[in-house]
Amino acid sequence: MNEIIKAMEERRSIRKFKPEMPSKDDLNRIIEAGLYAANAKGRQATITVAVTNKELRDRLSAVNAKICGREEGFDPFYGAPAILIVLAEKEWANRVYDGSLVMGNMMLAAHSLNLGSIWIHRAKEEFELPEYQELLKEIGIEGEWEGIGHCAVGYVDGEYPKPAKRRDNRVFWVE
Ligand SMILES: Cc1cc2nc3c(=O)[nH]c(=O)nc-3n(C[C@H](O)[C@H](O)[C@H](O)COP(=O)(O)O)c2cc1C
Repeated sequence: MNEIIKAMEERRSIRKFKPEMPSKDDLNRIIEAGLYAANAKGRQATITVAVTNKELRDRLSAVNAKICGREEGFDPFYGAPAILIVLAEKEWANRVYDGSLVMGNMMLAAHSLNLGSIWIHRAKEEFELPEYQELLKEIGIEGEWEGIGHCAVGYVDGEYPKPAKRRDNRVFWVE
């Protein structure tokens, strides 16, 4: 089968990762694949913040868990060591569409490199916090950005998940 379509059908969200960090080469390839996503008006209005620093990764995890009301100690990134955060220009009308395509490309690219990934939500709420806007400034990012999603990446721990059965009646042809 065509490799790209095969990857699209086989990729699954991973919820158990090994602690080992993927190589920077692989992470860069994933990020780069995201940068090539289709984007409205060719504006390229998204950025990606790649977090491999464990201390920051754990801080993000704790805030994310708090936002979704989970108990202390729950890791919403399921142990993934690398967190690729996609943000988009806050005033850009197509920010969510553009950012979502970046996320999709990155998850597929991770799969093609034999890495696991998952979209973890609540980036919007995180980057509404003043400390997160401050963090962006600290790392030299100016302007107003909206969080779109975290692509958590790492090596899959355990069995690869099987896809849920596709729901019926989701395709309508007019010929
Ligand atoms: C917009 C979006 C937000 C998601 N947020 C989370 C999340 O916060 N936590 C989580 O465990 N999975 C999250 N997921 C993963 C979905 O649960 C997963 O894609 C879905 O169950 C289908 O499974 P699959 O990706 O293996 O096909 C998110 C997926 C999307 C597209």
